[in-house]
Amino acid sequence: MISIKGVDKHFGELHVLKNINLEVDRGQVVVVLGPSGSGKSTLCRTINRLETVDSGTIEIDGEQLPAEGRKLAQLRSDVGMVFQSFNLFAHKTILENVTLAPVKVRKTDKAKAREKAMALLERVGVANQAEKYPAQLSGGQQQRVAIARSLAMDPKVILFDEPTSALDPEMVNEVLAVMTSLASEGMTMVVVTHEMGFARRAADRVVFMAEGAIVEDAPPAEFFDNPRSERAKDFLGKILNH
Ligand SMILES: Nc1ncnc2c1ncn2[C@@H]1O[C@H](COP(=O)(O)OP(=O)(O)OP(=O)(O)O)[C@@H](O)[C@H]1O
Ligand SMILES: [Mg+2]
Repeated sequence: MISIKGVDKHFGELHVLKNINLEVDRGQVVVVLGPSGSGKSTLCRTINRLETVDSGTIEIDGEQLPAEGRKLAQLRSDVGMVFQSFNLFAHKTILENVTLAPVKVRKTDKAKAREKAMALLERVGVANQAEKYPAQLSGGQQQRVAIARSLAMDPKVILFDEPTSALDPEMVNEVLAVMTSLASEGMTMVVVTHEMGFARRAADRVVFMAEGAIVEDAPPAEFFDNPRSERAKDFLGKILNH
C-alpha cells in the first residue's frame, strides 16, 4: 500500500532522510520509533508530500506521488494525517469539521456527508458533542474528532504523528483505544508514537530510526526483547526506564 524506495532528503546541509526503503502492506500497522530529530515526522510528511524528496520514489497503492496539481490533491486525500496538535477549525462545529472536506473536496452531498460524519463521531465516541466548537471539548475528544475527520475521506492510509503527545495522561488511552480498533479493522497505519504499549499490542512491525536512517525493522516482540543495534538498545533503555 505504501512503497518507499531509496528516498533521500536534505534540509540545507542536514541529511534528514538517508536512503529510506519501506514497504507497508495493506492493513499493516507500522510504528515508527526513534530519538528526537531522527526524521520520523519528516518521513511522515514526505508520504503525503507535505515535504518534497531529493531522490527516490514513494508510491501509494501502486501510484507514484505526483509533483503537484489535481492528481496530488486526489492522492493526498487518500492519505489521512493526524498530528499532535489537532488542527480542528476553531470557528466550525465538530460536525462541520468532519463534513467540510468530503463536501468541498469529494463533492459529497451535504445530507450524506452529515449522516456519515455522525456515524463516525459515534464510532469515536463523541457524537453527543457534534454541535459544539472544538474549544469546548477536551484534548482527547478533539483528537478523536481529528481521527473521525480523517476517516470521513475514506483514506487508504492514515499517518499518525505523535497523536497522544499533547494530551493529559488520562486522555491518552481513549485515543489509543480508537487507534487500536482501527488497526484491528484493517486500516493501513503508520504511527509515530512513544506509547510502547500500543506498539507492542497493535503494531505488525516496529521501524526504528536514528539520524535519518532506518536502523531496525522487526515485529514488536523481536524489537523490544532483542534489539540488535546499540542505538536501539540505548533508546529503549532510556525510554523504558524513565
Ligand atoms: N522545515 C525544516 N527545515 C529545516 N530543518 C528541519 C525542518 N524540519 C525538520 N528539520 C530538521 O530535520 C531533522 C529531523 O526532524 P524531524 O522533525 O523529522 O524529527 P523527529 O524524529 O520527528 O523528531 P521529534 O521526535 O522531536 O518529533 C531535525 O534535525 C530537524 O531539526
Ligand atoms: Mg516529530
